[in-house]
Amino acid sequence: MIFETHAHYDDEAFNQDRETLLESLKEHGIEYVINVGASLQSTKNTIGLMEKYPFIYGALGVHPSETEELDEENFLWLKEQYSLEKAVAVGEIGLDYYWKEPDRQVQQKWFRRQLRLAKDVKLPVVIHSREAAKDTLDIMKEEKAEEIGGEIHCFSYTKEMAREFLNMDFYFGIGGVVTFQNARKLKEAVEYIPLDKILLETDCPYLAPVPFRGKRNSSLNLPYVAEEIARIKGISRELVIEATNHNARKLFSIS
Ligand code: NI
Repeated sequence: MIFETHAHYDDEAFNQDRETLLESLKEHGIEYVINVGASLQSTKNTIGLMEKYPFIYGALGVHPSETEELDEENFLWLKEQYSLEKAVAVGEIGLDYYWKEPDRQVQQKWFRRQLRLAKDVKLPVVIHSREAAKDTLDIMKEEKAEEIGGEIHCFSYTKEMAREFLNMDFYFGIGGVVTFQNARKLKEAVEYIPLDKILLETDCPYLAPVPFRGKRNSSLNLPYVAEEIARIKGISRELVIEATNHNARKLFSIS
């Protein structure tokens, strides 16, 4: 069965049908979901979801674009939440230079702080990195991310960058973008990345795969992503689903 490693089911895009949708996942072959916090509020909402649904686990953290809200007080609050049994990762954290705000120094400061936090609480990290490949890699090296472990979510860089993250033993979240016709570099990277380092993810409600590109995404579309990875690697879709499920359980310590 499919292990969905990156969803935002707390997003308002699911307000109309969240319960119905989540309750239908299992019958469509989705076994587990990691709901990912992107701000303090969405981290709180993620905790609510993981308490309500047995198959939902949580990555708790603050996305680079939301780091302006962090201070010492709420950072302490955040740290306390990792004692929850179903909190399995620190994320999503990282750098996003596509947006001018917050200032790069602010993003970098809280990226480092959250990497150190992950080391303290002994959990892997979910990294968001957009148009910031070099700084992401430099900071990860300086903070010895290879001792923390984790994944590069929605990997969007080249094969050469993939090699750098592989050297740190990181995993790669692959989602709907891999099905886009113009995603040539990503397809190349997916061909290169060993199957035992690939995770399936949606980043829903965003990034729906072809043939639903532009529409609201959900874990129900993951078979299209698995199908494309299978095509690129010349293996069966079932093997992709099975291997990525195994990889996710290993990374997030879910037996
Ligand atoms: Ni995300």
